[in-house]
Amino acid sequence: MPIKNIVYAQREHGGDLRSLDDYLAAGGYKGLEATLGMSPDDALYQFHRSGLRGRGGAGFPMGRKAGFLPKDSAKPSYVVCNADESEPGTFKDREIMELNPFQLIEGVTIAGFAVGAARGYIYIRGEYEHQARILDEALAAARADGRLGGDIMGSGFEYDITLSRGAGAYICGEETGLLESLEGKRGQPRLKPPFPAVGGLYQSPTLINNVETLSALPPIMTHGADWYAEMGTEKSPGTKIFSVSGHVLKPGNYEIVLGDTTLRELLYDICGGFREGQDFKACWVGGSSVPVLGAEHLDTPLDYESLQEAGTFLGSAGCIVMDTSGCIVRSSLRLAHFYRHESCGKCTPCREGTMWMEKVLQRIVDGGGRMEDLDLLDAMFGRISGRVLCALADGAVAPVQSAVELFRDDFVRAIEKGAPEPEPMMEAPVG
Ligand SMILES: Cc1cc2nc3c(=O)[nH]c(=O)nc-3n(C[C@H](O)[C@H](O)[C@H](O)COP(=O)(O)O)c2cc1C
Ligand code: SF4
Repeated sequence: MPIKNIVYAQREHGGDLRSLDDYLAAGGYKGLEATLGMSPDDALYQFHRSGLRGRGGAGFPMGRKAGFLPKDSAKPSYVVCNADESEPGTFKDREIMELNPFQLIEGVTIAGFAVGAARGYIYIRGEYEHQARILDEALAAARADGRLGGDIMGSGFEYDITLSRGAGAYICGEETGLLESLEGKRGQPRLKPPFPAVGGLYQSPTLINNVETLSALPPIMTHGADWYAEMGTEKSPGTKIFSVSGHVLKPGNYEIVLGDTTLRELLYDICGGFREGQDFKACWVGGSSVPVLGAEHLDTPLDYESLQEAGTFLGSAGCIVMDTSGCIVRSSLRLAHFYRHESCGKCTPCREGTMWMEKVLQRIVDGGGRMEDLDLLDAMFGRISGRVLCALADGAVAPVQSAVELFRDDFVRAIEKGAPEPEPMMEAPVG
């Protein structure tokens, strides 16, 4: 069975992991105990050896990033957990925080010890009020039990975690936009360098990682880096949670070993396939910011390298699925609308380009499209990508550009007919 619940440990235990007692009974805090028994450098080496890659989108090796923080800085260092979970189609961090909050808190503490941090922050999206309350209670319980604060678990290590709530902007998930917001400023990305590892929160050394990345640290430190590295492929070790949504019969979060499962197996065997009379049409496997895949890609193994070879990215693994009743032209317009709305406006190519992309797609959907619009879109893609401060703009271009390339016939038909085919109302998923 490709499912392996390591970060989703709550699915393996009968107890309620929101209770500290149940978390301890399930083996919780063994990872921190092991970490506190070694030097920070040894802990960093374990991160590195595990091969764990960032689960927030870019897939950067976690141990390498933690190793970039200077050890001789006169300023305090920080760990920031990115719990903004703003990528459309992604809903895994929510479930981790809701059902297994101590594993994340333990992970943020382990990371703090390894990089010699003075404090950790969890920046949670504003809409996750319920999850913020659960985390608040869990932080208080950890503090009361000597697992945060001064002299953690009798080790002499002093560290605490602050929960900070966002206010609902996609761009505050981008790491430097997040840091600005955490400092109380408008959430707009910063020019890099300096990178957060050197000049992050309050211009101090800062390690920023996603909820899922940090939640993988306790099992890694409990069972050992080699245990983790043995799962998956050489360059994509470990497990990854796929948030599957859209036209499958059993949408949901599934934690699978990287490289063990193909896209076809995920959608048909694990997610139950499609409604009668429908079949797979398209899928944005890594969230809405990645190039779309079609039926010819169904046998691609789900790992970083294989997906890149197929022309897309694993991203946050927010896998949005469309069956044959869906309309790729209308979906492209919806995505373009989202990115136009969420562009922070700081860079002209992104601010203006996302607006024009939406306008041209709207014209096609409204029946006024011209064949030249496809060339016009093509010219826009080249003028936006790579000419901006952050990856939001690339994320705006990738799904639309790939849709125009892969499903060109759908766009041509929509223009020739004067509008795309109407989309039937989607029925509620079952299962
Ligand atoms: C527009 C935009 C939105 C992002 N949103 C998120 C997010 O909601 N959560 C997240 O973990 N990373 C997000 N990222 C990626 C972060 O910038 C950063 O790479 C990540 O937090 C690093 O953690 P990781 O190495 O553990 O993946 C976003 C990036 C961009 C460009
Ligand atoms: S690329 Fe877009 S979202 Fe990113 S900083 Fe520039 S304007 Fe803002």
